[in-house]
Amino acid sequence: MNRLVVFSFLMVALVTVLTLKNYKSLPISNEKFSMAKAEEAHAAHIKELAELALMQKPAVAVVEDDKPEAPLVVLDTPQLQSGSDLYKKCIVCHGKRGEGKKSQNAPRIGGQFSSYLEEQILAMQSGKRINQKMLPYIKKLSSQDVKDLSVYLSKIPWGK
Ligand code: HEC
Repeated sequence: MNRLVVFSFLMVALVTVLTLKNYKSLPISNEKFSMAKAEEAHAAHIKELAELALMQKPAVAVVEDDKPEAPLVVLDTPQLQSGSDLYKKCIVCHGKRGEGKKSQNAPRIGGQFSSYLEEQILAMQSGKRINQKMLPYIKKLSSQDVKDLSVYLSKIPWGK
């Protein structure tokens, strides 16, 4: 009985020492959460998603894309330029031409009336229209950004 107690004690001591030793060798990081890094990772993720979406296009659509195309919208005003730049973030879900994406449940928005688009985005920002999926992408847009986006989108020919 005594030997059993001593043996158990020794085992416990051994395990404790080993655990402590291991614990000491675990990597310790004092790195703080970095918004810049998180955003970088997010951007990389979005890029990856966009590339995947492009890869999944049916062969016919890819052939179509090979043709040299006239620009979708002539960016001849600062507003259209700004709208086009802002829209890059939306392409993952709504597609290059705002044609929408079934896999994302995202509707066609290219060629819609700008007043309608503006109203919808503002309603989503205010929470009147709930769209959890899209909110992170529109949360930081100013009312001017929303206007620029809406005007740009409305210039895309419907059905393209
Ligand atoms: C994560 C995917 C995603 C991203 C990114 C995204 N959207 Fe959407 N968007 C959706 C979905 C899903 C809906 C449909 C929601 C619903 O049915 O209410 C939608 C709906 C909309 C609508 C309403 C369309 C209509 O017919 O009522 C507008 C306008 C819109 N998005 C604009 C944008 C703009 C502008 C951006 C970029 C700043 C953007 N979206 C980015 C997923 C996305």
